[in-house]
Amino acid sequence: METVSIHKPKVVVIGSCNTDMVVKANRLPVPGETVLGGTFYMNPGGKGANQAIAASRLGAEVTFISKIGYDLFGLQALEIYKSEKINTEFIFTDQKSPSGVALISVDSFGENSIIVAPGASRSLSIEDINKAEEKIREADIILMQLEVPIETAEYAATIANKYNKKVILNPAPTLSNAFLRNIHTILPNRIEAEMLSGIKVMDIESAHRAAKTIGDKGIENVVITLGKDGAYVKEKDKYAMIPAKQVETIDTTGAGDVFCGAFSVCLSEKHSLTEAVEFANAAAAIAVTRIGAQSAIPYKMEVTL
Ligand code: ATP
Ligand code: RIB
Repeated sequence: METVSIHKPKVVVIGSCNTDMVVKANRLPVPGETVLGGTFYMNPGGKGANQAIAASRLGAEVTFISKIGYDLFGLQALEIYKSEKINTEFIFTDQKSPSGVALISVDSFGENSIIVAPGASRSLSIEDINKAEEKIREADIILMQLEVPIETAEYAATIANKYNKKVILNPAPTLSNAFLRNIHTILPNRIEAEMLSGIKVMDIESAHRAAKTIGDKGIENVVITLGKDGAYVKEKDKYAMIPAKQVETIDTTGAGDVFCGAFSVCLSEKHSLTEAVEFANAAAAIAVTRIGAQSAIPYKMEVTL
């Protein structure tokens, strides 16, 4: 698949900016337990920011709509986005809240558990979206997650729909009552798919039932990401399992974000949904071989199918 295009596709990402506090340990603690971990890392993160950077590195012209606090973490993040060639015109500042923070534990298999303190992301508002309406009108694709208020995301989808734009929703973190109107493709992981469908996703058969159930709520396209197994796709009335690349896993943090960013870029370049999933699988497989969220995101030239 040729993914080179003369005009860069325009992707608007609406979402969170976090700073990730990461410790790697042999295993994740059970409730009430303390485990001794290894080195502590402080990395830039946030599902919104990770997806914006992924889309930029993978070839899109990206506008990131987000909110930071008036603090060092927020200012550092802003500098990073500028260095990633992201349009930061619509990154707003909340004078009263701290920037978002995520506490992340990673085990020896590269699996993680995350708690997010959203801080300023919680105050990204409908008024903020109104200020960026022109950018939404100019975009090819709108990509969002749910680390910002659901009303804001829902409103942004309505605006996007007014201009006939494709909206990609990554309903993360887990949320059972994600709004499903004005969405072109929903991109849940296994857990989010279970929350949305009530079906435990364990194999291809259950992934099929979950994708169908979510689709029956009124969404044409459903892509359930299945970690090292790849992704299960419902495209209108066609269903397919698209396997992941086999790689050595170091840290899966942000794999879903790379997948969403890559998927959006590829789809906005007018590739098919299946091609976009293949490209996203390839990009996310690179990310899991590296530590961190944003530090692991590949550039377009690295991704081979
Ligand atoms: P995370 O929360 O860890 O960022 P997620 O739970 O949102 O990820 P996953 O379904 O775990 O999303 O992974 C997203 C995509 O990343 C998968 O569909 C696959 O393409 C790729 N991926 C994840 N883990 C692996 C792995 N171990 N090997 C190869 N590819 C992987
Ligand atoms: O998807 C990974 C991201 O989730 C981390 O960077 C963390 O900030 C949380 O938002």
